[in-house]
Amino acid sequence: MTPLHLSILVAMAKNRVIGRNNRLPWHLPADLKHFKFLTMGQTIVMGRKTYESIGKPLPGRANVIITRQADYEVPGAMVVHSLEDALLICEETSNSHSENFIIGGEKLYRQALKICQRMYITEIQRDFDGDVFFPEFDRSEWEETQRDKHIAENEGGLEYHFVVLQRKSSTV
Ligand SMILES: NC(=O)c1ccc[n+]([C@@H]2O[C@H](COP(=O)([O-])OP(=O)(O)OC[C@H]3O[C@@H](n4cnc5c(N)ncnc54)[C@H](OP(=O)(O)O)[C@@H]3O)[C@@H](O)[C@H]2O)c1
Repeated sequence: MTPLHLSILVAMAKNRVIGRNNRLPWHLPADLKHFKFLTMGQTIVMGRKTYESIGKPLPGRANVIITRQADYEVPGAMVVHSLEDALLICEETSNSHSENFIIGGEKLYRQALKICQRMYITEIQRDFDGDVFFPEFDRSEWEETQRDKHIAENEGGLEYHFVVLQRKSSTV
């Protein structure tokens, strides 16, 4: 069987904030473009609140939404009731070129952090006010394989870095 390529994709502020009032606290078009580039043609897995914050299934990607609500339905997306079921869908749809992305929010990241092999983190170099956070993790278990530094034209010249971390023990 093809090994499952499972990656976290997140944008987080310096103080680990990832959201406020079920929205992103910043407006960074280049990060949205980066998100689209990485996920196009792949499977994206998200919590129900993140789905509702986006508001519609994202085109060109297999959308998997996790909820405990038995009657939750979204045309154009697959709804499951556990992370395990989401991973089964990823396995069924994967080939050797596939990458499966956990795209949030905090509750999903907490569960996926233990099992993913890679993290794409947009590190925003400023604190933001928020009510959801990316969990703390042991950086020594991860190798930084990429860091691209950028300055936004909006948001007062906000500096952000596209960072890729690979789990040191990972073979995929
Ligand atoms: N900065 C970023 O990169 C980024 C990315 C994504 C989201 N966000 C932000 O994160 C916030 C949302 O995060 P959140 O932690 O509040 O919510 P979330 O993780 O998006 O969704 C939580 C919901 O997912 C369902 N769920 C989670 N784990 C489950 C499991 N194991 N089994 C069954 N259902 C499960 C539950 O839905 P039910 O309540 O329906 O049962 C739960 O209430 C928003 O502010 C959003 O803007 C930021």
